[in-house]
Amino acid sequence: MSQKDLIEEINSKYKDLGENPDTYLSGMRYAKPVNYWDYCEIDALLTLQKPKTEIPDESVFIMYHQVNELLFKMILSEIEQVAKTNNIELNFFVSRLGRINRYFDVLISSFAIMKYGMEVEQYMKFRDALTPASGFQSVQYRKIEIACTDLNNLIDARYKHKADEFVGLQAKIDNLYWQAAGKNHKTGEKSLMLSMFEEKYGKELLDTATEYETKNLRAVFNSLSEEDKQSPKLIKAMKALDNKINIKWTMTHYRTAEHYLESSGKPVAATGGSPWKKYMHPKYQKRIFFPELWSKEELDTWGYEHEE
Ligand code: HEM
Repeated sequence: MSQKDLIEEINSKYKDLGENPDTYLSGMRYAKPVNYWDYCEIDALLTLQKPKTEIPDESVFIMYHQVNELLFKMILSEIEQVAKTNNIELNFFVSRLGRINRYFDVLISSFAIMKYGMEVEQYMKFRDALTPASGFQSVQYRKIEIACTDLNNLIDARYKHKADEFVGLQAKIDNLYWQAAGKNHKTGEKSLMLSMFEEKYGKELLDTATEYETKNLRAVFNSLSEEDKQSPKLIKAMKALDNKINIKWTMTHYRTAEHYLESSGKPVAATGGSPWKKYMHPKYQKRIFFPELWSKEELDTWGYEHEE
């Protein structure tokens, strides 16, 4: 574009806004050039690590969680773009699923930083200073799940057969699989980890569930034409996502928990206090976002290939 055309465009942009373009052009003479550190907020970013102890590996733990939360945000932003697009085109949907899958590849492969990148002795000391906090309380992780599928697919495996009895989104949320980490279903009593989480994010999660009820990834898939729904590259991308989050990530996370919490030979309690040995394994949780895409045998044996 020539300089003349550029100035013409700038003129019309500000005229359309009812502003005087000359003032803006004049201001450009004094504006500071952009630099990397301000643009990426590096100084602010580097002040966000506030360890509770002086044990060096606690910084690895905090920063790796922060890296995860940024990737979760990137995933949510891709899902949001899909959800906001009316009459979505197959190629756009597949390309966005590809992005999400790449973020999950990073989350899965980098989890070795948690398993091998901290000394067990150090972890077992600083973790006591974090109780009752847990990654369980990551609201972005919960939002990703809610934005991927119907709440019915996230109901605690023990109650899935009566999912239709839970009327309304809140009743479903109260019976999602993750309630099993902190709620005694007989007495209704909740752990501090769970009650603190619900107090802080309960309303936000209900809003997310309402927003994504009809436009989660599974709903978007179902809104496609019959021909698009048969697309091999789409089915491959959806199944890859289900497998990455609900088996691969879940298993690498579970093995990491074992590495630390069973380091003495006997399992010890997690910071969040869940019955983690059972709770975290995919074969018990049976979270499956797109069950229609798997065979009956695959559904029945979900997570079993990783059995001890
Ligand atoms: C040494 C590293 C880690 C250990 C030992 C560990 C252990 C655990 C345990 C035992 C739970 C069950 C809840 C509880 O009782 O606390 C849990 C839940 C969770 N953690 Fe971690 N975790 C680790 C790192 C991470 C990281 C880096 C993330 C990334 C944000 C993360 C995200 C989560 C999430 C999302 C849950 C809930 C998962 C579910 O409900 O199935 N964890 N973790």
